[in-house]
Amino acid sequence: MLTVRDLTVGYNGVPIVHGVSLELVAGATACVVGPNGCGKSTLLKGLAGLIKPMGGTVELTGRGDITTMSTAERAAGGMGYVPQIDDVFKPLTVEENIVIGGYALPRKRVAINKERVLELFPRLRTMLKRHAGVLSGGERKMLAMARVLMLEPTVLLLDEPTAGLTEEMATRLLDEQLAELKASGIAVLLVEQRANLAMASADWAYVLASGRVRRSGSAAELRADPSFSHIFLGGTEETFTDNAADTTQNEGEVRCS
Ligand SMILES: Nc1ncnc2c1ncn2[C@@H]1O[C@H](COP(=O)(O)OP(=O)(O)O)[C@@H](O)[C@H]1O
Ligand SMILES: [Mg+2]
Repeated sequence: MLTVRDLTVGYNGVPIVHGVSLELVAGATACVVGPNGCGKSTLLKGLAGLIKPMGGTVELTGRGDITTMSTAERAAGGMGYVPQIDDVFKPLTVEENIVIGGYALPRKRVAINKERVLELFPRLRTMLKRHAGVLSGGERKMLAMARVLMLEPTVLLLDEPTAGLTEEMATRLLDEQLAELKASGIAVLLVEQRANLAMASADWAYVLASGRVRRSGSAAELRADPSFSHIFLGGTEETFTDNAADTTQNEGEVRCS
């Protein structure tokens, strides 16, 4: 559904994500895991069109090359994006937020899709009249997802959807709700700090360090790889990078903290 080739994105002319290539397949989840500050959110912002790429291409099945499209055009073309920091209209109610998510659809479809997202997130149904601003972090994240799902995306980019959720709610989100979205044919790109949890539910995984893909492969296989678990069990990125095949560093590259 999505083919990313050699994407370089950053801020103010300074690249943060260097030459990343990845592919998303319909009905499958790929996760991007990596240490704090390594460029996961920057990568998603580049894919969603919030920041202009400095190089590379992004192709969306059915739409062709979308590299220069705006965020709104991408959304209309089937790309759903839920940012890391909450993306809800705080003064509006939960219900209003959901309905606004379907702004581009006929009224009948809005009603159908609203029912669909409430079935996926039954917790939201109990708080329809509540203002989004008083929701917990985890509830807001669910609302942001529900809002994005209203437009029936074919590709869903999720930046740390389990942040603010209890372990139990996070597991449910990844194992049940995401599984349901996958079953409906959506291609999901999941960015997570909870690497083990994400990789347990994902089909494919990309390990990002210093803005580069250091490893990619079947999530189950990577999860079992000792050099991978090392970094998330207290190993430093340096050690991890040393173990990886590509140890080159560009001059002036922004390193992870
Ligand atoms: N708006 C911005 N302007 C400049 N630098 C930024 C901005 N947002 C993030 N960065 C920098 O980009 C790097 C990667 O950040 P980010 O993509 O948020 O990492 P992650 O999501 O993996 O934690 C960090 O060094 C961060 O300070
Ligand atoms: Mg981030």
